[in-house]
Amino acid sequence: MKRLKLAILISGRGSNMEALLRAAEDPAYPAQPVLVASNRPDAKGLETAASAGIATASVDHKIYGKDREAFERALDTELEKAGTEIIALAGFMRVLTPWFVGKWQGRMVNIHPSLLPKYKGLHTHQRALDAGDTEAGATVHWVSPGVDDGEIIQQARLPILPGDTADSLAARLLPVEHKLYPEALAKACATLQASNS
Ligand code: GRF
Repeated sequence: MKRLKLAILISGRGSNMEALLRAAEDPAYPAQPVLVASNRPDAKGLETAASAGIATASVDHKIYGKDREAFERALDTELEKAGTEIIALAGFMRVLTPWFVGKWQGRMVNIHPSLLPKYKGLHTHQRALDAGDTEAGATVHWVSPGVDDGEIIQQARLPILPGDTADSLAARLLPVEHKLYPEALAKACATLQASNS
């Protein structure tokens, strides 16, 4: 099976990115990382990617002010230069314009720390606690024009424990995300390969 050229977009720590890079060390994994790009030049994940020998790019959104599309066009240039075939958003904290989503739709996935369709947007763990939920989780989905709104690829769940706080829940969910994302991305690659053939 041909491996799809994978770009991972991050804004910070990049632990999910690291999980994807680790999975892709297996030559049988269906995606091959070609680029890790960040909208924040100081993202810690950029260093992690560079030390793993992956090409990195930093496209600082602040330079473009309110012009989101100008930022995305600069980012897109980097994605095209790397020959990107599939994009994984991994803690990428920019809302994308219809132009960018339209261009990459069907080739771009995201991980969101809630059991979508519950709790789109921010503060997902606190919102799950405030609602008295008994379980939380994470979702990998295709990216569509609505925020955290695209078709679900795979979810993973975990129980909310008495005394949980947003921080304790986030900490327990993180390793669950690290297992979920590589599995779900592999599924997404298979879907994309099938639709290309
Ligand atoms: C993760 O919780 C992910 O679900 C969310 O942002 C966080 C990113 O963490 N989209 P990291 O940068 O992957 O460590």
